[in-house]
Amino acid sequence: MTNIPNRETFENAYSGKAPWDIGKPQPALVAIADKVTGSVLDSGCGTGENALFFAERGHKVTGVDYLREPIERAKQKAVERGVQATFLVIDALQLDSVPEQFDTVIDSGLFHGFPDEDRKRYVAGLAGVTKPGGRVFLACFSNEEPGEVGPRRISRMDLRTAFADGWTVESIEPIRFEVRADMPELGFSPGGPKAWLATIRRL
Ligand SMILES: C[S@@+](CC[C@H](N)C(=O)[O-])C[C@H]1O[C@@H](n2cnc3c(N)ncnc32)[C@H](O)[C@@H]1O
Repeated sequence: MTNIPNRETFENAYSGKAPWDIGKPQPALVAIADKVTGSVLDSGCGTGENALFFAERGHKVTGVDYLREPIERAKQKAVERGVQATFLVIDALQLDSVPEQFDTVIDSGLFHGFPDEDRKRYVAGLAGVTKPGGRVFLACFSNEEPGEVGPRRISRMDLRTAFADGWTVESIEPIRFEVRADMPELGFSPGGPKAWLATIRRL
């Protein structure tokens, strides 16, 4: 995986083993589940494990991803598990096409893949889909994760800069991403890639 992944990078990942596709929600999101309120948008939802986790907890959840393949898998899981959730093929750089505002947005591993110019566009789009007073929970690779495998590393300052206008960054906590256990060749830190979980409130 290159540091700036593109559509083909993700298509290739989903045609084989996608490191992040662990068949369950990310533990760092499970840990803050009680802080999640109201309706939830999962931006870059992949095959939907995080979205389905929050749907099972009773939230009205919409998951969006720009690839059809993971969205189809997410829909299939929802049917198999008898969970109600909406999954849509939508480019997160065009969130203005989402006709709704949400109390909570989760982003597990999307933000860190964007180049600078798309990062600005993405955050502007997030502002449009997050209700005033609503929160974004954003998990991204940390600058404390060594090496270059995987996505761009993000610093606390990068997060504060990206969300400087129209948002309050309430906290940025160190977490670990869980990745597939059968891909040790990726060489991430023992315990999983070091990451940040940012909690960001829309003003
Ligand atoms: C690292 S994966 C994380 C997937 C999921 N959030 C998870 O935790 O399993 C990033 C996801 O974002 C999607 N993605 C990348 N760029 C996107 C974009 N511009 N709009 C929507 N989805 C995008 C990819 O297809 C991929 O499913």
